[in-house]
Amino acid sequence: MSSPPGAGAIFLTGFMGSGKSMIGRELALRLHRLFIDLDDLIARREGHSIDHIFSALGEPAFREAEHRALMALPLGSGPVVATGGGVVLKRENRSFMARTGLRVWLKCPLAEILRRLESAAGESGRPLWTGDRQELARLLEERTPVYAEAAELTVDSSVATGETVGEILRRLEERGA
Ligand code: S3P
Repeated sequence: MSSPPGAGAIFLTGFMGSGKSMIGRELALRLHRLFIDLDDLIARREGHSIDHIFSALGEPAFREAEHRALMALPLGSGPVVATGGGVVLKRENRSFMARTGLRVWLKCPLAEILRRLESAAGESGRPLWTGDRQELARLLEERTPVYAEAAELTVDSSVATGETVGEILRRLEERGA
Protein backbone atom coordinates (compact mmCIF):
# COMPACT_ATOMS: atom_id res chain seq x y z
CA MET A 1 0.00 0.00 0.00
CA SER A 2 1.31 3.43 -0.80
CA SER A 3 0.32 6.58 1.06
CA PRO A 4 -0.76 9.70 -0.82
CA PRO A 5 2.12 12.19 -1.20
CA GLY A 6 2.08 14.98 1.32
CA ALA A 7 -0.35 13.24 3.64
CA GLY A 8 0.40 11.94 7.07
CA ALA A 9 3.55 11.28 8.99
CA ILE A 10 6.99 10.36 7.73
CA PHE A 11 8.23 7.31 9.63
CA LEU A 12 11.95 6.69 9.59
CA THR A 13 12.72 3.04 10.17
CA GLY A 14 15.95 1.07 10.32
CA PHE A 15 18.41 -0.66 12.56
CA MET A 16 20.12 0.85 15.61
CA GLY A 17 22.81 3.26 14.48
CA SER A 18 21.26 3.87 11.08
CA GLY A 19 20.83 7.57 11.94
CA LYS A 20 17.06 7.79 12.40
CA SER A 21 17.12 10.46 15.11
CA MET A 22 19.75 12.74 13.58
CA ILE A 23 18.33 12.46 10.08
CA GLY A 24 14.78 12.85 11.39
CA ARG A 25 15.63 16.05 13.25
CA GLU A 26 17.24 17.61 10.18
CA LEU A 27 14.52 16.40 7.82
CA ALA A 28 11.82 17.85 10.06
CA LEU A 29 13.63 21.21 10.11
CA ARG A 30 13.91 21.26 6.33
CA LEU A 31 10.23 20.33 5.89
CA HIS A 32 9.02 22.62 8.70
CA ARG A 33 7.41 19.65 10.37
CA LEU A 34 7.27 18.50 13.98
CA PHE A 35 9.93 15.96 14.94
CA ILE A 36 9.11 13.10 17.31
CA ASP A 37 11.56 10.54 18.61
CA LEU A 38 9.50 7.48 19.49
CA ASP A 39 11.98 6.23 22.13
CA ASP A 40 11.82 9.61 23.90
CA LEU A 41 8.03 9.48 23.79
CA ILE A 42 8.04 5.96 25.28
CA ALA A 43 10.34 7.04 28.11
CA ARG A 44 8.16 10.09 28.85
CA ARG A 45 4.91 8.12 28.77
CA GLU A 46 6.23 5.28 30.92
CA GLY A 47 8.18 7.52 33.30
CA HIS A 48 11.28 5.31 32.87
CA SER A 49 14.28 5.14 30.59
CA ILE A 50 14.40 2.57 27.77
CA ASP A 51 17.19 0.76 29.65
CA HIS A 52 15.10 0.58 32.80
CA ILE A 53 12.02 -0.72 30.96
CA PHE A 54 14.13 -3.50 29.37
CA SER A 55 15.96 -4.47 32.54
CA ALA A 56 13.08 -4.21 35.02
CA LEU A 57 10.17 -5.35 32.87
CA GLY A 58 11.74 -7.18 29.92
CA GLU A 59 11.62 -6.80 26.16
CA PRO A 60 7.95 -7.90 25.73
CA ALA A 61 6.86 -5.09 28.09
CA PHE A 62 8.99 -2.64 26.12
CA ARG A 63 7.37 -3.81 22.84
CA GLU A 64 3.93 -3.21 24.35
CA ALA A 65 4.95 0.27 25.52
CA GLU A 66 6.39 0.96 22.07
CA HIS A 67 3.15 -0.14 20.43
CA ARG A 68 1.06 2.05 22.74
CA ALA A 69 3.29 5.06 22.10
CA LEU A 70 3.05 4.56 18.34
CA MET A 71 -0.75 4.42 18.54
CA ALA A 72 -0.77 7.59 20.67
CA LEU A 73 1.37 9.68 18.29
CA PRO A 74 -0.08 13.09 17.48
CA LEU A 75 -0.24 12.61 13.72
CA GLY A 76 -2.39 15.61 12.85
CA SER A 77 0.39 17.86 11.62
CA GLY A 78 2.21 15.11 9.72
CA PRO A 79 5.29 14.81 11.93
CA VAL A 80 8.63 13.22 11.08
CA VAL A 81 8.92 10.24 13.42
CA ALA A 82 12.21 8.51 14.26
CA THR A 83 11.08 5.03 15.29
CA GLY A 84 13.09 2.53 17.34
CA GLY A 85 14.90 -0.24 15.49
CA GLY A 86 12.39 -2.89 16.55
CA VAL A 87 9.12 -1.09 15.81
CA VAL A 88 8.68 -3.02 12.56
CA LEU A 89 8.61 -6.35 14.43
CA LYS A 90 4.90 -6.11 15.27
CA ARG A 91 2.60 -6.54 12.31
CA GLU A 92 0.08 -4.10 13.83
CA ASN A 93 2.83 -1.46 13.96
CA ARG A 94 3.70 -2.03 10.32
CA SER A 95 0.11 -1.74 9.20
CA PHE A 96 -0.48 1.34 11.38
CA MET A 97 2.51 3.09 9.78
CA ALA A 98 1.32 2.04 6.32
CA ARG A 99 -2.11 3.54 6.99
CA THR A 100 -0.95 6.78 8.51
CA GLY A 101 2.23 7.80 6.71
CA LEU A 102 5.16 7.25 4.47
CA ARG A 103 7.73 4.68 5.58
CA VAL A 104 11.36 5.45 4.82
CA TRP A 105 13.93 2.75 5.56
CA LEU A 106 17.36 4.14 6.39
CA LYS A 107 19.50 1.32 5.14
CA CYS A 108 23.01 1.10 6.50
CA PRO A 109 25.56 -1.70 6.14
CA LEU A 110 26.74 -3.68 9.16
CA ALA A 111 30.30 -2.31 9.12
CA GLU A 112 29.09 1.29 9.38
CA ILE A 113 26.51 0.40 12.05
CA LEU A 114 29.25 -1.25 14.11
CA ARG A 115 31.53 1.74 13.67
CA ARG A 116 28.81 4.10 14.92
CA LEU A 117 27.65 1.93 17.82
CA GLU A 118 31.21 1.32 18.96
CA SER A 119 32.03 5.00 18.87
CA ALA A 120 28.83 5.74 20.82
CA ALA A 121 29.66 3.09 23.45
CA GLY A 122 28.35 4.11 26.84
CA GLU A 123 25.33 5.93 25.41
CA SER A 124 22.10 4.72 26.96
CA GLY A 125 18.92 3.48 25.30
CA ARG A 126 20.28 0.49 23.40
CA PRO A 127 20.05 -2.49 25.71
CA LEU A 128 20.16 -4.87 22.74
CA TRP A 129 23.67 -3.68 21.88
CA THR A 130 25.90 -5.51 24.32
CA GLY A 131 29.12 -5.16 22.34
CA ASP A 132 28.70 -8.60 20.78
CA ARG A 133 29.39 -8.06 17.07
CA GLN A 134 28.18 -11.50 16.01
CA GLU A 135 24.90 -11.14 17.84
CA LEU A 136 24.39 -7.74 16.24
CA ALA A 137 25.12 -9.16 12.79
CA ARG A 138 22.59 -11.93 13.41
CA LEU A 139 19.93 -9.45 14.52
CA LEU A 140 20.51 -7.23 11.48
CA GLU A 141 20.29 -10.21 9.14
CA GLU A 142 17.08 -11.40 10.78
CA ARG A 143 15.46 -7.97 10.59
CA THR A 144 16.61 -6.86 7.15
CA PRO A 145 13.72 -8.57 5.27
CA VAL A 146 11.25 -7.01 7.73
CA TYR A 147 12.62 -3.49 7.14
CA ALA A 148 12.47 -4.15 3.40
CA GLU A 149 8.87 -5.34 3.59
CA ALA A 150 7.85 -2.39 5.74
CA ALA A 151 9.46 0.26 3.49
CA GLU A 152 8.01 2.43 0.78
CA LEU A 153 11.26 4.29 0.22
CA THR A 154 14.73 2.97 0.90
CA VAL A 155 17.57 5.43 1.33
CA ASP A 156 21.25 4.76 1.99
CA SER A 157 22.14 6.25 5.37
CA SER A 158 25.79 5.21 5.51
CA VAL A 159 26.76 8.66 4.23
CA ALA A 160 26.73 12.07 5.95
CA THR A 161 23.41 13.12 7.53
CA GLY A 162 22.97 16.06 5.14
CA GLU A 163 23.42 13.83 2.13
CA THR A 164 20.80 11.35 3.32
CA VAL A 165 18.38 14.17 4.12
CA GLY A 166 18.97 15.63 0.63
CA GLU A 167 18.23 12.25 -0.93
CA ILE A 168 15.00 11.84 1.07
CA LEU A 169 13.91 15.36 0.02
CA ARG A 170 14.61 14.54 -3.64
CA ARG A 171 12.65 11.31 -3.40
CA LEU A 172 9.72 13.10 -1.72
CA GLU A 173 9.75 15.71 -4.47
CA GLU A 174 9.70 12.99 -7.14
CA ARG A 175 6.59 11.62 -5.48
CA GLY A 176 5.02 15.09 -5.54
CA ALA A 177 5.13 15.41 -1.75
C1 S3P B 1 15.75 -1.20 19.66
C2 S3P B 1 16.30 -0.01 19.24
C3 S3P B 1 16.39 1.18 20.09
C4 S3P B 1 15.33 1.16 21.19
C5 S3P B 1 15.35 -0.13 21.93
C6 S3P B 1 15.15 -1.35 21.02
C7 S3P B 1 15.71 -2.35 18.75
O1 S3P B 1 16.20 2.36 19.30
O2 S3P B 1 14.05 1.33 20.66
O3 S3P B 1 16.59 -0.24 22.56
O4 S3P B 1 14.97 -3.32 19.02
O5 S3P B 1 16.40 -2.31 17.71
P1 S3P B 1 17.25 2.89 18.18
O6 S3P B 1 17.01 2.11 16.94
O7 S3P B 1 16.89 4.32 18.05
O8 S3P B 1 18.62 2.68 18.73
